[in-house]
Amino acid sequence: MSALTESAAWRALTQLALADAAVSLNQRFASDPDRARRLAAEACGLYLDYSKQRVDDSILSALLAYADQQQVSAGIARMFAGDVINATEGRAVGHVALRAPRDAGLTMAGAPVMPAVHDVLDRMATFADAIRSGAWRGATGEMLTDIVNIGIGGSDFGPRMVWDALSDPTNRPRAHFVANVDGAQLSAVLGALDPARTLFVVTSKTFTTQETMANAGAARHWLTAALGEAAVARHFAGVSTARQTVEAFGIAPANVFEFWDWVGGRYSLWSAVGLANMIALGPGRFRELLAGAHAMDEHFRRTPLAQNLPVLMALIAFWNYNFLGASSQVIAPYAQRLRRFVGWLQQLEMESNGKSVNRDGQTLDYPTTPALWGDVGTNAQHAFFQMLHQSAALHPVDFIIPVKPVRGLPEQHPLLVANGLAQSAALMRGKDAEQVRAELSRQGLSGATLEAAIPHRVFSGNRPSSTLLLPQLDAFHVGALCALYEHRTFVLSLLWNINAFDQWGVELGKQLAQQVTMAMGDGSGVAALDASTQQLLERVHAR
Ligand code: F6P
Repeated sequence: MSALTESAAWRALTQLALADAAVSLNQRFASDPDRARRLAAEACGLYLDYSKQRVDDSILSALLAYADQQQVSAGIARMFAGDVINATEGRAVGHVALRAPRDAGLTMAGAPVMPAVHDVLDRMATFADAIRSGAWRGATGEMLTDIVNIGIGGSDFGPRMVWDALSDPTNRPRAHFVANVDGAQLSAVLGALDPARTLFVVTSKTFTTQETMANAGAARHWLTAALGEAAVARHFAGVSTARQTVEAFGIAPANVFEFWDWVGGRYSLWSAVGLANMIALGPGRFRELLAGAHAMDEHFRRTPLAQNLPVLMALIAFWNYNFLGASSQVIAPYAQRLRRFVGWLQQLEMESNGKSVNRDGQTLDYPTTPALWGDVGTNAQHAFFQMLHQSAALHPVDFIIPVKPVRGLPEQHPLLVANGLAQSAALMRGKDAEQVRAELSRQGLSGATLEAAIPHRVFSGNRPSSTLLLPQLDAFHVGALCALYEHRTFVLSLLWNINAFDQWGVELGKQLAQQVTMAMGDGSGVAALDASTQQLLERVHAR
């Protein structure tokens, strides 16, 4: 046992979890008429109802005591102070500075950063306005109508998710996103575009990522084959921490937009990584997105833990996973526009917290980060909700529901909202054998047929969920929502005593991909590969 799992605060939670089975959510609601009102919190227009979670006042107090033990408040303060909290990479963690106002005075590792942050934002806005107005045109004098972001991981998920959440089909210019090294994606995008009207934004923190470099090279070839080498200067922009490498690729220095090593890839949608959105959605809406995130930062930084939305959500996730034995975390946005939200969140949470050593490098004796997955409602109801309602395993759900529609058949929106609310109620309430028996009798079933039908129709209920209501899916509230989950991820890392900001686990696969690529090319290094991989390569070569 580690000092953490041996601590009084951890053991208190273990004891409380033993008593969990004795009282159901239905009983908790029956014995506490004020429960729904009390187990709720609100910030930046986002309303969190966590009354359908398997917590009560004593569990919440014990969770808050554990948060105190883990010095969560001090951890939050250290991030905002720009301390080097990403110790394994020797970096501060500064995504909150990317959406802070000019006069915020934030420093990272002791150095002021706000002037540089706003200098880049201003340059992005000037570039975006020039493209939108037609002051910046392509090499043949045509207006640029299509922006193609080429990037992967954090250089793709965030901006793509924001574009999907905030754009509509009439949006001009249009943004497109290419990530996969599978050429099917780039060729499908390019197949519908005109080189004379296309701008490529090559987005890569390192500017060395294999997939992005391959796609950027192919895009460049497509452009220059049609318009000549000189066109690159008017049709390519670069976003990176490595300015010289971007310029070496041939991108004009004026079109290079920087960010910094204190911005983690998966926390970077607010930086120049959002350039395609700044251009396609317009600087005004991009700044509203930043304002929403900043509002959530202020809430996170200044609100006591017991009312602090990211802290509450992290504590509940920790309780569900480490004490109630939840198998995974499900995210169900009831918003088609948030169809990419789960993908973004998967990288955010699982690349951040999928770790098995603590900040001192000691092996953990508790698991971190359940698999996080999900899909939009109501589609998800017709896919995996059967399992959520009736499988033996526990899969807590976050329902995310915008109350008002922004566009598109508003008369259907009440149906959407009603379905989300109904699912969380059904998971909680369940339906016992007596209720099923009564229902089936009313339908005319009786005797052995009725009895045989009952077990299949019983819902155990008592399945935890939270519901997050947003006023509507506008830029401000999308910003606040994303920042909420970023901070939830960070607080979870404090509860687990791990570093959320490195990702060494992706390195081995990258190294081996290089080795295998060489082996596939000139055959070098084949002998160093394992027998299974060698055999697979032989098969690949034989076809
Ligand atoms: O998936 C690994 C990773 O390093 C991510 O952390 C990052 O977001 C992604 O690759 C892309 O990296 P880059 O922006 O440097 O191309």
